[in-house]
Order: sequence, then structure tokens, then C-alpha cells
Amino acid sequence: MKKNMSGEGGWWVVLLTATLAATSNAEGGAGLLTAAPLHQVITSSTLRWIQLQPDTTLEYVVTGAESEKGPVYLCRGRQQGDWLLGQLRPKYTECLISPETRSSNFEVLENIHNASLIHWKHWNKFAPRSKGAVTVDSSNSNVFIGRTNAIQDKLSHYIGRISYETSIGHMQVLDDENNELTKDSGEILVEIEPISYKLEKVKIEDGTERVTHDEPISFGERILQNNEDDDATVNTAVEYAYNYTLKWGHKHGIATGLNTTVEMIDGTIFPQMKWGDSFREERKDLFMLKQYLKPGTACNVTVRGNYTHRDVNYTGKLVTFYKDKTERSRPITGERVETIMQMEAIYGDVYFIANNSLVPTTTTTTTTTTTTTTTSTTILSTLLLPTPKVPTNIDIANPMKKPEDIEDIDSNDMKPPPVKENISMSTKGELEGRKPNAAGTSGIEMLSLLFPIFALLISV
Ligand SMILES: *[C@@H]1O[C@H](CO)[C@@H](O)[C@H](O)[C@H]1NC(C)=O
Ligand SMILES: *[C@@H]1O[C@H](CO)[C@@H](O)[C@H](O)[C@H]1NC(C)=O
Ligand SMILES: *[C@@H]1O[C@H](CO)[C@@H](O)[C@H](O)[C@H]1NC(C)=O
Ligand SMILES: *[C@@H]1O[C@H](CO)[C@@H](O)[C@H](O)[C@H]1NC(C)=O
Ligand SMILES: *[C@@H]1O[C@H](CO)[C@@H](O)[C@H](O)[C@H]1NC(C)=O
Ligand SMILES: *[C@@H]1O[C@H](CO)[C@@H](O)[C@H](O)[C@H]1NC(C)=O
Ligand SMILES: *[C@@H]1O[C@H](CO)[C@@H](O)[C@H](O)[C@H]1NC(C)=O
Ligand SMILES: *[C@@H]1O[C@H](CO)[C@@H](O)[C@H](O)[C@H]1NC(C)=O
Repeated sequence: MKKNMSGEGGWWVVLLTATLAATSNAEGGAGLLTAAPLHQVITSSTLRWIQLQPDTTLEYVVTGAESEKGPVYLCRGRQQGDWLLGQLRPKYTECLISPETRSSNFEVLENIHNASLIHWKHWNKFAPRSKGAVTVDSSNSNVFIGRTNAIQDKLSHYIGRISYETSIGHMQVLDDENNELTKDSGEILVEIEPISYKLEKVKIEDGTERVTHDEPISFGERILQNNEDDDATVNTAVEYAYNYTLKWGHKHGIATGLNTTVEMIDGTIFPQMKWGDSFREERKDLFMLKQYLKPGTACNVTVRGNYTHRDVNYTGKLVTFYKDKTERSRPITGERVETIMQMEAIYGDVYFIANNSLVPTTTTTTTTTTTTTTTSTTILSTLLLPTPKVPTNIDIANPMKKPEDIEDIDSNDMKPPPVKENISMSTKGELEGRKPNAAGTSGIEMLSLLFPIFALLISV
């Protein structure tokens, strides 16, 4: 009869793993029964047992019945080490467990942010244990929360426990006179599993960015040199790789591990990820180096980068999808952490290739004045690319697009750069002298690839 229930493990299995990894019960997550035949208890991400505090939002506390005087909340109290189901009636300060037992140190069942889709499912004593049934005590997979319709109208329902010792269930409820009744049928509380999420209309909150840097990593040194007879702007590109990560946070009320898509308020869609995990990918990019050089001069450039973590707060709407194709949405706030690589080039003094001596900072000749660059710093951060391709082509496509990023030598250059620039690329042999890591090797390969592109652009 329940054949279709077995083997649909998705969410539960993921949650189970997360639960085992994180010694869950510290946070009081309510236990939920997994599908047959295993019938394990996993921790709900959206239901939890909490002590009633003055600031508890009572609208989110799960109600078992209505009464003339207001809602009757579900609660549980400890007796000899075991959690027993009870009910918190209007104006009561104790959890009523049985005719004789009340607990003043009790917990109520909270539906965190109203995020859980719970359902009172029809039950009779011959029905097998329901997948998703909420347990009273996470360490006991045989006792659940039940209720049955009331006879008088003081209470809408009689709340009680459903326990299984065999395959036949046993329901025991308390009526409005606190009499214990045994029932053969009624309802059992189950949580409906979400299958995926969509975080939409995401808006980054201005002024919430916090940036931290790791220690700089060296991507090696390059020598830019002009072996030609004319002044030239020497370009080269350094290829670098890094691990990009993006995490949208992990919050109560959202099941870790479910497929989640994210759409910004401007319509940008990010690659699908699993909630609570970082989206991670290795990215390769090109970092452009550019130096205006007189004939016979060269400049050493050190390239390094920082892993840079950018935290921002965001607001958005979380849409939760369920298997029966229904969906529910609610506003959420969260913190997004993005890790990128921030690159930096440190340009050394310009020197004569012939004798390695520095080009004087103020040399007046009839034709030119050459200014050595004082160690100028160029920061070129990578862009946040929603649908990244590896390698990204941004720098290749627009090598000249960020001239303002490159502090050129024109600050006290008296002669404007020649209209037609002659490009001198660093040759392979010269670069090989400085090749501290693998990034350097691939950098060289990129050079030959880039050369025609530059030539093309400059001749336009
Ligand atoms: C909780 O969610 C349900 C279903 O979306 C809705 O009917 C109910 O009004 C919500 N309750 C509160 C207190 O927001
Ligand atoms: C970002 O959100 C967190 C958690 O909600 C909050 O504590 C923090 O103050 C927020 N930061 C800013 C700059 O608003
Ligand atoms: C580029 O340099 C070559 C020699 O290195 C020279 O023959 C040619 O005229 C130069 N072209 C321009 C546009 O300056
Ligand atoms: C990215 O991370 C993976 C796994 O941690 C690692 O093997 C790889 O070397 C990293 N790549 C870079 C460029 O750091
Ligand atoms: C989650 O995403 C993966 C990869 O796109 C897909 O294979 C899987 O079916 C998805 N799971 C659900 C429950 O949609
Ligand atoms: C540039 O690099 C070369 C090769 O490593 C080195 O011999 C030279 O001293 C450097 N020059 C300057 C000005 O840093
Ligand atoms: C790395 O971060 C530090 C600040 O912590 C900064 O001083 C340094 O310039 C950064 N280096 C790079 C290569 O971005
Ligand atoms: C180095 O060589 C350049 C040209 O080749 C020359 O102008 C300069 O005077 C030389 N400097 C020294 C210190 O020899």
C-alpha cells in the first residue's frame, strides 16, 4: 500500500548526513521519521523544540487544537529522562502530559519562521508509521504526535501520543476533562518534505560589505622589455588560477543540501548549488601588464594576488518547492560570502637592458624625457561572473578596456606616446629566466596567443 513511499530518500538522506555530522540535538531540532524500511529519525531543519520565552513568537508555535479560550499548543516534558508529549492549554503555565502529570520545565514545538509545511494526516491503528511523522523524542522512533476530533466543542481536538510497539499503532489522547482515552483513528502530525528552493529577488544591502584578505600569493615576476628601435608600449598577460567560492549562508529553517537556484533582483541567475554548501570552481583568468618603454629599456614586474573574502548582507524571497508541485514563499535575509582573487602588479624601476643600470628619472635629451615608473600599483579585481566560463575571456576581448587601472608613465612624460605603437613582446627565452611557478608556464603560452589579438587591436 505504501510502496511508493520507500526509496524516496533525497532530502531525508541529505539531512541525515548533515545531522550525523553536526551532533544536531544541541539545537533541539525535532525528529522526523524517514521512509520505510529503515525508519530512522532525522532532524528537521524547520521544526524544533524550544523553551517558551517571553519573546517567543507564538504564531510560530505549533497548535494541536483550538479551544474557546485560544489555541492549545503542543509541548513535551521530561519524565525520568524521557520526553513525553503534552499540551499547553490557554492560561496554563504547565505542560499537561497525563491526568496526573504536568511539567513546568517543558518545551513547545516551534515552526521556525513558519517555514515548515506541516500537515495532520489521517491515521488509523493499522496504518504503518508515516514518513515525515514528527517524533516526540528524537531518540525514539516509535512515538509520534496525534490528535482526534473532540466530541464536545470546548476543544476542537483531543491531543495525544501515537505509539507503536508492534506494527499496530496505539493512540492515547486527553479529553477536555483530562480523561485518558484510547482511539483507533485520528490524525498524525507529519512534515512535508521540500524538494528544492529558489532564492529570488535577491538584493544586496548597500553598506554591508566587509572585506578581508588572506596573505598575498606570488604569481611570479615578469620582465617587460623593448628590444625595438622605437618607443613602445609593451604588453603581456599573466594567466592565473584560483578557487572561486560563493556561499549564500546557512540558516535555520532551510534544509541543508537541497538544490537551490539564486536569482538577483535584476534577473541575473547564478549556477545551481546545494543550500548550505559553497559553490566552488577553479577559475582561470588573465592579468594584463602594460608598460611604456624606450628602446633598449626594461622593467621588472612582480605579480601577486590576495584571496579576498567579501561578505554582504542580502534580502530576498525564498520559494520552497514540494513534491506535489506546491510552493510556498517567504522573505528572508542572509549573508553572502564570496571569495575572489584580487591581483596586483608592482612595477619596478625601468633600467637599460645593456648594462642593467637604472634609467635616470630626469634625463633631458633633445627628443625625449623618460620617466621611470615609480613602483606603481595596479589593482584589477576579478568580476563576479554569474555564469562563469573557464577561462573567462573578458581580458582577452577587451585588453584595453581598463586603461585607468594601469597607472602609466604619462604623468610627467613630455612627449605623448607615438600614435602608432610598435609592440614588442617579451620573448620566451627572456621570460623563462623568471618562472617560479606553473602559472608562469601557462602565461608564456598565452603570450603567443595574445600577440595577434593585440596587433589587430592596435592597427585599428
Ligand atoms: C504560516 O504559513 C501558512 C502557509 O503558508 C499560512 O497560511 C499562515 O498564515 C502562516 N502563519 C503565520 C503566522 O505567518
Ligand atoms: C548583516 O547581517 C548580520 C546578521 O543578520 C548582522 O548581524 C549584521 O549587523 C549585518 N551587517 C550590516 C553591516 O548591516
Ligand atoms: C616597428 O619596428 C620595426 C623595427 O623594429 C620598424 O621597421 C617599423 O618601422 C616599426 N613600425 C612602426 C609603426 O613604428
Ligand atoms: C582549488 O582547490 C582544489 C581542492 O581544494 C585544489 O586541489 C586546487 O589546487 C585549488 N586550485 C588552486 C588554483 O588553488
Ligand atoms: C538537483 O540537481 C542535480 C543536478 O542538477 C539533479 O541531477 C538532481 O535531480 C536535482 N535534484 C532535485 C531533487 O531536483
Ligand atoms: C630585473 O630582473 C633581473 C632578472 O631577475 C635582475 O637581474 C635585475 O637586477 C632586475 N632589475 C631590477 C631593476 O629590479
Ligand atoms: C593583500 O591584503 C593586504 C591587506 O591585508 C594588502 O595590504 C595587500 O596589498 C594585498 N595584496 C594584494 C596582492 O592584493
Ligand atoms: C647604460 O646604457 C645606456 C644605453 O645603452 C647608456 O645611455 C647609459 O649611460 C649606461 N649607463 C651606465 C651607468 O653605464
